[in-house]
This record gives sequence, structure tokens and C-alpha cells, in this order.
Amino acid sequence: MNLSSSLLSADFACLQDQACTVEPFVDRFHWDVMDGHFVPNLTFGPPVVNALRKRLQRPFDIHLMIDHPLTYAPQFEVHPEDSITFHVETLDDPRAVIETIAGLPARIGISLRPGTPLDALAQHLDSVQLVLIMSVEPGFGGQAFLPNAIERIRTLRRMIGSRPVEIAVDGGIHASNIDQVVSAGADTIIAGSAIFGQPDPARGAIELREAAG
Ligand code: DX5
Ligand code: ZN
Repeated sequence: MNLSSSLLSADFACLQDQACTVEPFVDRFHWDVMDGHFVPNLTFGPPVVNALRKRLQRPFDIHLMIDHPLTYAPQFEVHPEDSITFHVETLDDPRAVIETIAGLPARIGISLRPGTPLDALAQHLDSVQLVLIMSVEPGFGGQAFLPNAIERIRTLRRMIGSRPVEIAVDGGIHASNIDQVVSAGADTIIAGSAIFGQPDPARGAIELREAAG
């Protein structure tokens, strides 16, 4: 299991310090890029993510919750082990987004809202390296895990078959439910409040890993 820490729940006043504190205990950093249109929240974009890219070693998972990934994906200064994930519900044509990300030195991820049928992904499974299952409505950290995500992970695992596609799961994951998510077939767990909502974020990451079994 890979553990990816979502910086959405970090203290933005000291983002670099918070990231460096957990870096030895996590596998990746997850960046929730929001535009105030695709989701009702605004966060950070390429200038902030690119500035921190130079200061951190672990791979970046860039989660684009934005209407126009075609415009913004190329503005991220990514490394080959990083990923850029866009939503299948984007206003841009998903095939064009995949082609654009394929031209960047990054892995391609595709995500979908909890209510979007998995069939929406079927035609893209040969073209991406990662599928991000949302287990909360995208937009905010600290929400409760939606239990139907478990069945969606199992179904997606069957749909993927032998393709080299990673399943990441994002939202509402804590020490109390992480084992259930991993058992269902998740390769990567994304956690925000379970890490940065703790008095000691490093301890939060260690406890998640222990609870994953
Ligand atoms: C929600 C984001 C998640 C969020 C997860 O829109 O995509 O990455 O940070 O936060 P927690 O782990 O607190 O649910
Ligand atoms: Zn996310």
C-alpha cells in the first residue's frame, strides 16, 4: 500500500514545514487543486505546487478538481514519478486531456465523483496508469467516508483485470477504516485529516500504516 498525504488539511501558513515533517513517513504528496467551479472551493494552483516541487523529494499526486484541465495540466512542473489526475466529468474532452498529459513527464490519472457510474471510465482504462476513486464528494477535507466506495473499488478491480492500472482512494479514510479500503483492492490511500488533523502529523501517518496491516 502507498500512503499519500493530502496537503489540503495541512496548515497553509507553514506548508513546507508540514510537508517536510511527514515526508519520511509517507510515500507521496497529494495536492487538491480546486477552481471554485468544478467544486465549491478554491485552493492552490501551479505557482504553489511548483514552488514546493523543488523542496520535496516524494512524488506528487496532483488531483485536478477543475473544469479545464487542458489549460492548466501543462503548467505543472512534474517529474516522471508524479501523476496528474483529472475528472472524467470535466468540461474538456477526456481524450484530449489524456493526450495532453501523455505529452508531459507524468503518470496519467482519471477520477470520478461518487455518483458517476464506473462505466464512464471503461473506454479510458487502456490509456491511464491510475484511477482515483472518490469516497467523499470532492471539494472539502474532513468528510465522512461513503460506504458505497467499497463496492466500487471491487468492481473497478474486476474492470481493470490485468492492466497495469493503480487504484487510489480519496476521502474520509482513517485508522478505523483503512484496512477495509485496502482489503477491497486499493493500492494507494490518500489521507488528509487523518494525518494533518492530528497534533503530531507524523504519528498520524505511522498509525495509518499500522492500521492498514
Ligand atoms: C476532497 C479531496 C481529498 C481530501 C481528503 O475533495 O480530494 O483529497 O483532502 O481529505 P480527508 O482525508 O480529510 O477526507
Ligand atoms: Zn484529492
